[in-house]
Amino acid sequence: MNRFRELDRLLDNAWCPYSGFHVASIVVTADGRTFPGVNVESAAFPTTICAERNAIQSAVAAGCRPGDIAEVHILARGPDGHYAEAYPCGACRQVIAEQSLNRAKVYVYNAEGDNSGHSIADLLPHAFFLNPEE
Ligand code: THU
Repeated sequence: MNRFRELDRLLDNAWCPYSGFHVASIVVTADGRTFPGVNVESAAFPTTICAERNAIQSAVAAGCRPGDIAEVHILARGPDGHYAEAYPCGACRQVIAEQSLNRAKVYVYNAEGDNSGHSIADLLPHAFFLNPEE
């Protein structure tokens, strides 16, 4: 399912006064629930949170557990106002892998509103798991 319109509305909620780079993410669970996230920057730069982890944290706060997350959708808009095709950063890939038990599909949107889907296992081979047998 294409979530460009929802993501585009969400982009305006990003808090990015330092980079001007807006990122919106929607997490979809296996049972169809959705959770929004945006990047929230901080004057203490490393405390900035990415849109993808923000969305996943909302899902976890609502009770989702590892394996519940099926999809992560991402749309970004650069400081020039143009859409930018943005893949999740390394830290977000790790969290997506953990919270989906390596099963999530990540949908990255381009300027035309089309998406391309990638399995998290392709985006982050050999993700770190404390209990790999689980
Ligand atoms: N950002 C995300 O929200 N997701 C990513 O996967 C990469 C980067 C944000 C963090 C920061 O607010 C802005 O993009 C520029 O790095």
